[in-house]
Parts: sequence; C-alpha cells; structure tokens
Amino acid sequence: MPEIIDLNAYGPDFVADPHPYYAKLRAQGPVHRVRVAEADAMDVWLVVGYEEVRAALADPRLAKDWTRSAAPLLSPDEDAEWRLMNMLDADQPQHTRLRKLVAREFTTRRVEALRPRVQQITDELLDTMLAAPDGRADLVEALAFPLPMTVICELLGVPDIERETFRVWSNELVSPTSHEAAMAAARDMAAYLDGLIEAKRRSPGEDLLSALVRTSDEDGDQLSQQELLGMAFLLLVAGHETTVNLISNGVRALLRHPAQLAALRDGFSLLDNAVEEMLRYDGPVENATWRFATEPVEIGGTVVPAGDIVIVGLAAAGRDAERFEAPDTFDITRETRGHVAFGHGIHFCLGAPLARMEGRIAVRTLLERCPGLALDAGHDALTWRPGMTIRGPQQLPVRWR
Ligand code: HEM
Repeated sequence: MPEIIDLNAYGPDFVADPHPYYAKLRAQGPVHRVRVAEADAMDVWLVVGYEEVRAALADPRLAKDWTRSAAPLLSPDEDAEWRLMNMLDADQPQHTRLRKLVAREFTTRRVEALRPRVQQITDELLDTMLAAPDGRADLVEALAFPLPMTVICELLGVPDIERETFRVWSNELVSPTSHEAAMAAARDMAAYLDGLIEAKRRSPGEDLLSALVRTSDEDGDQLSQQELLGMAFLLLVAGHETTVNLISNGVRALLRHPAQLAALRDGFSLLDNAVEEMLRYDGPVENATWRFATEPVEIGGTVVPAGDIVIVGLAAAGRDAERFEAPDTFDITRETRGHVAFGHGIHFCLGAPLARMEGRIAVRTLLERCPGLALDAGHDALTWRPGMTIRGPQQLPVRWR
C-alpha cells in the first residue's frame, strides 16, 4: 500500500487555493492514497492526472450506486430512511433508463426558451445591485447565487417563498457542516419535494417537474414517486450549487487578469471561450462525486482494490500540463476543448447547456453594465466553501466606481 497523504494537514490554505497542492501531487504521480476530512477522516484514492481522470470517469468498474458497495456511506437505517434514487447515484442500466426519461423533457428547446427570462432576471438583479449608493456589493449575494437559483426554481416550478429554505438545505448537502446536519437537510428537502410532486400531480403546470410527472417513454416506462423525488432533488441541488461558482470564480479570475478582461470587453467575441476557460481554470466542481471500485481497477499504474473509494480530480485535470499548455495561466484565447469541468462519460452534466447560457449572460451583462468593475477584497479576505467537492468563495466583494 502506498504512503497515505493526509490532506487535512494542508490546512485552510488547501481550501483557499487547492491548485498548488494538486500540482505537487501530480508531479509525484497521477493517483494517490489520501486521507480526507469528510466522513470522519477516510482513506480514499485521489486521481489527479488528466488522462487518468478521463479514464476513471469512463470506467464502469468505478461505480456510483452505493447500495452495491461493500462499505456504504450511510448506515442501513439512514439508507432506508431517505435514500433517493437519482441518476448520479445510479449505474448502467438503471442510469440509462433514468437519464432517458429526464432527457426527453430537459431538452435544448426547453433550455433555449429560457434565454429571455435568464436575461431578464440578470437585468433585474443588476438593477438592484447597481442601486447601492456606495457602488459596492457582494457579487455572490447580488448575482451569482440568485440567478441560477431563480432559474432552476422557475424551471422546476418551485414557488418563490421556499427558495431561501432551499438554499440552506442544499448548501448543507454539498458542503456539510456535519453528517447529522446533512442528513437532516436531506430529510427535510425530501419531505418538501414529496408534497410538491403531489401538488403537481393534482394541478400540473408548464414546469419541468409537472412534465416529469407526466412523462413516459415509448415503452410506457415512467418515473416512480421515489425516482421523481430523486430527480427533483438532484436537479435542484445541481442547479443551486454549481453555476453560482462558475460566475463567482469566473468573474474573480477575469478581474485578477486585466489584459484578459480587456480582451473580453473588446466586442465580446471571446465570450463563449472565456466561459470555457473559467471552467477549466477554476471550475465549480473541484472533484467529481465519489465512486467505488467494484473489482480491482488499475488506474495510471496503481491498482485500486475492490471496494475502495475513488475521488476523481476535475480541478487537478484542468491544470495538467500534459494536456493544457501553461495550465496555470488564465488565457481566454486558448484551446479549451477537452476540459472536464462538466465531467465525462455517462454522468456528463445534464445541465451544461443551461449553465453555459447562464454563465455567458451573467458575465457579459455584468461587464457591460459595470465598466469600472473591480475586486473589493484581496485573496486573503475571502472565505471559501468547505469540502473538496464544490469550489467557490462564500462572498465576492466588488466595486464599480
Ligand atoms: C457550471 C455549472 C455546472 C457544473 C460545473 C456542473 C458539473 C457537473 C459535473 C462535474 C457532473 C458529473 C459529476 C460526476 O460524474 O460525479 C454533473 C452532473 C450533473 N449535473 Fe451538472 N454542473 C453544472 C450545472 C448544472 C445545472 C445548472 C444542472 C441542472 C439544471 C445540472 C445537472 C446535472 C445533473 C442532473 C447531473 C447528473 C448527470 C448524470 O448522472 O447522468 N448541472 N454536473
């Protein structure tokens, strides 16, 4: 067994900027045995090399369905109590079935139809932000969080009133303050969604959740109540926790690189590629959700024993010099193809087109309306989302005068 590297020993610097630590690990090899703070200091495998990351994400022997695992993450009671079948926790063939049913409804057309509304929400949020008399705001609070949150809630048909509660639950789920608190949030959210699905059954609307209640494929296959619950849960959490950090990490990267910012402002022809570079350079999902080996699996010359947990490093892959030239340079003109910020393989992000649209509209509108936009706090003043899954600052102070 190789030496165990205790990531906890890296301290808060690792959360504030994990990239130099991943670079050091990558220099030593693509796969490491590490100790993580989550789930009471567990030993897991961490993949940090680009090629190995892609191979791991496409490998069916690295599974997601924890009911098949010899060492489940949840106790049997917890598992029975709230386990929700969702496609991100499913393997083939169950995954294909679930994804097919949602893909029928989560179409490019439905996403494209949202474009004017995404622009309108962005405009309204910026109207409010720009009314601040001192010309200062926290960009997370003013734009990066409320934009994707409003969009996903409107898409699914979650009433306004519940949205702040949702924020608390979903933050707790992806960046838990404790195992108990995360379990309680999951339970509360499931109970709420159960009621919401019932309401959509009784009086369906035009929203995605109503469509999912109705939908069935050619063979008459339909989502069960548990599956609907799991799907709504996954879409809401994925929609809440990711795009916010695309906007805040992305804007932060731009504001720290004035030449890149100027190049983008010059006609915005580089907008689409700039958003891809933001995803590669400092994407919202630092590490993919955990997988486990169903049999011994060789990754980059290391054999991961059956049953062991594997964390696949998306942020680390984006900075691998074997794949991206000068990877630590933020360059919105570079070739960004092949970045893995949205994952790879069967679990490739379902919401990528929506996230890209939101990111592009948010960044462009923000820059157009704030010609003097600048950071209003140095790196050391920021606090970061805890944990190794989601990467982003908790606040991003900016000023525009
Ligand atoms: C910039 C924003 C986003 C990023 C960086 C992102 C990233 C990811 C990644 C890395 C995965 C794969 C995780 C893994 O394999 O463990 C994933 C899966 C997924 N994402 Fe996203 N996501 C974003 C936005 C969204 C949005 C807005 C939605 C929904 C509206 C969404 C819905 C999903 C779903 C449903 C899956 C599971 C797909 C499956 O298991 O087949 N994501 N996302």
